[in-house]
Amino acid sequence: MSGIQVADGFRLITTEVASEQAAFARDVKAGLTAFPKYLSCRYFYDAKGSALFEAICELPEYYLTRSERAILERYAREMVAEMPEESALVEFGSGSAVKTRLLIEALLKQQGSLLFVPVDISKPALEDSSRGLLADYQDLEVLGVWAEYQEGLERVREIVSGPKLILWLGSSVGNFDREEAAQFLKQVREGMDGEDRFLMGVDLRKDRGVLEAAYDDAQGVTAEFNLNLLDRINRELGGWFELERFKHRAVYDEVEGRMEMYLVSTSDQTVRIDGLDLDVPFDTGEAIFTEPSYKYSVEEIETLVHRAGFEQVRQWLDEDRRFSLNLLKVL
Ligand code: AVJ
Repeated sequence: MSGIQVADGFRLITTEVASEQAAFARDVKAGLTAFPKYLSCRYFYDAKGSALFEAICELPEYYLTRSERAILERYAREMVAEMPEESALVEFGSGSAVKTRLLIEALLKQQGSLLFVPVDISKPALEDSSRGLLADYQDLEVLGVWAEYQEGLERVREIVSGPKLILWLGSSVGNFDREEAAQFLKQVREGMDGEDRFLMGVDLRKDRGVLEAAYDDAQGVTAEFNLNLLDRINRELGGWFELERFKHRAVYDEVEGRMEMYLVSTSDQTVRIDGLDLDVPFDTGEAIFTEPSYKYSVEEIETLVHRAGFEQVRQWLDEDRRFSLNLLKVL
């Protein structure tokens, strides 16, 4: 059920994510009985996974967050300069919303007050970040939407009637394949008017070494993030995965232009999942595909954007040309 909860002046709209348990069970069963095996990266973000992702963003190897932040620090004012008065700020997959602060501050400076609508599948992340923002900015109103992308898009249409800047940072677009990405962007565009703008962070194609290190860090935080998926199955579905018998693998497919994460079985084993009444056999070296992370060239971004019916207003890159921010409007 949908509903609005009010706590500490922070309003939260909750949607069907609340009944995610059934979808998780169904998707895990489908993925672990398929060949080759897979699990969806959308299930990384339980409370523990969200915290681990925040830790990833602080890693020296994970340049994405730092590069994107550097671009925002430098250009946030320019990015919002053409937004009309009383624009709202919407963000998909806001997580802890640290980078968002730079845009919130730029908009507050420009127009005095602001409605911020973060949309996220992690309720703890939404609550924590919203409380923090409300404590720091007097003239900010926050209306959190606890929802998946699809549902979130519909809710935003109901909530925000005036002009809006929609953020999709962190290169989350990378989790879609190129076709799905174009489809999703089309849906975003359908909810936008002429004055609205869409600001999208996209990670760029680059050297294999830099990429593989970013997804397989020396401290093993990304490995823990990946393995948490098995732990989540243990906790929520009565699984019997022994985490020591799987290892994290991250490889770059240069032709596809994507990073791939896997969990690889280090022995022949059968894993029982009580909640699914399922026994899953693994061969030594057999992999579960857990996440694609597509990288784009500047040309590929242009193609994506045009396929989705957007016009690129501007693009900003960091000094090392590792990451891009793209300001789009409807064609
Ligand atoms: C949140 C999807 C952008 O693909 O870089 C980080 C997730 N996975 N380390 C990414 C992730 C492994 C991240 N995105």
